[in-house]
Amino acid sequence: MTDSASSHDSMGVASAIPAGRVLIFDTTLRDGEQSPGASMTHEDKCEIAALLDEMGVDVIEAGFPIASEGDFEAVKAIAGLVKRASVCGLARASKKDILRAWEALEGARNPRIHTFLSTSPLHMKHKLNLEPEQVLAKIHESVSYARSLCDNVQWSPEDGTRTEREFLAKAVRTALEAGANTINIPDTVGYTIPNESAQIIRQLREDVPEIDEKAIIATHCHNDLGMAVANSLAAVSAGARQIECTINGLGERAGNAALEEAVMALRVRRDVLPYESGVDPVYLARASRMVANATGFPVQYNKAIVGKNAFAHESGIHQDGMLKHAGTYEIMTPETVGVSKTNLVLGKHSGRHALKERLKELGYDLGDNALQDAFVRFKALGDAKREIFDEDLIALVDDAASEVEGGEGRVKLIDLQVESRMGQRAKSRVVLEIDGQRQEAEGEGDGPVDAAYKAVKALVKHQGKLQLFQVTSVTGGTDAQAEVSVRLEEGGYIAASQAADTDTVVAAAKAYVNALNKLFLRRQKTAPESSALAG
Ligand code: KIV
Ligand code: ZN
Repeated sequence: MTDSASSHDSMGVASAIPAGRVLIFDTTLRDGEQSPGASMTHEDKCEIAALLDEMGVDVIEAGFPIASEGDFEAVKAIAGLVKRASVCGLARASKKDILRAWEALEGARNPRIHTFLSTSPLHMKHKLNLEPEQVLAKIHESVSYARSLCDNVQWSPEDGTRTEREFLAKAVRTALEAGANTINIPDTVGYTIPNESAQIIRQLREDVPEIDEKAIIATHCHNDLGMAVANSLAAVSAGARQIECTINGLGERAGNAALEEAVMALRVRRDVLPYESGVDPVYLARASRMVANATGFPVQYNKAIVGKNAFAHESGIHQDGMLKHAGTYEIMTPETVGVSKTNLVLGKHSGRHALKERLKELGYDLGDNALQDAFVRFKALGDAKREIFDEDLIALVDDAASEVEGGEGRVKLIDLQVESRMGQRAKSRVVLEIDGQRQEAEGEGDGPVDAAYKAVKALVKHQGKLQLFQVTSVTGGTDAQAEVSVRLEEGGYIAASQAADTDTVVAAAKAYVNALNKLFLRRQKTAPESSALAG
């Protein structure tokens, strides 16, 4: 399946990476965040970047610094915290964009500027309104400028797969002459198919043979036809050595190639694609949950690698096969990707040490304070629920992480009562502590959650619009915890939060209050004059 890969690896810039290695470039925080409604908070972005770094991602595209002050600050903070990976920022082909990206990135251990310009006839004519010669001049100017600031420069011909091959070669040659050392070929609109994806890379290497000496070839595939990962792997088979991808396949429209799928495909099918990534797959399930929680975008149950059902076997024939030999129906073990198969783990009498060890096995190495907090929650959960499963523990730790500064938000839920009767409007009474003051209110609504939210709104001044309200069950059974995810939008800022409880209405109220705390934290930073909360 591979195509003169070894000759590629033995030459030029590609040889700067170990033979047989494919670089993983994660763009969850840039392209992923461009997914409509998937904005993440500054804190969430930093937490995700730290995990990506820990799991062995090679390049983290942290944002588009000129897009907003928030993006700039996030890229700058990530540049400062990442220890191993290269940190990258996106810039259009203008000096202003590139300089802004550099200002955000310059504190990174290994900064990379990623600049791009459209090269397809459609984009050049209708989007840029430029002639091909003008596009080439702009490529030269922008890449040269980026190189004057930073040694590590990636260039992308936007809509690359719909670019005429001859012009693609010219554009790439220009970027190489100007000093680009990664050339990324984006399938911006998810249009290509695997054969063509490989053919584009193959032809590019033929047309621009110096590319192997001067640069690493990258592939960046969108998923509009559901082939992003397949197209990325096909590009690798033809000589690409960097896959651009996102956790859970997040991204514009139908998303990008999913990191977890690309990493596991490389690992499981080394026999036909003899390359490996530097990502430790045991982090994949955790990274997936972290991104789902930060964005409020749930992972579909049958999503490859990280979906709830990815390792579930329902039919009798499959279950029978699994009992005889796991290899009958599993091509990788769930443990490899950080999914535990142990069912019942702990009960209310389990101690702190058992909790710590179990969490460690699930990928959470908690410090003393976080462990104490988790232990208190665990005991409370043990009172409400007889059996505590791994999923319960994960929800418990993720909730704590989702809270504003370890639960130190300005609003705290103290008590909640609801009265709901079939055919009648529900009533609620909510007690909150707002900036240390106990306050209570009553609410009436179309159901218990609506009534509880009305009471909270009566006490807390905000214009936040509820963009998402979603309930899922953490485990099976009628005593299962409900996990509620909410997304609130106020003045263009989005706060996502989730909370779990055996009482669905309590989980909903906790998630709401937590999202409000995130909005207030933001308001305090950006408009302190409007930070009064009482309604
Ligand atoms: O899809 C795309 O073309 C991009 C570029 C900015 C690389 O995301
Ligand atoms: Zn993209």
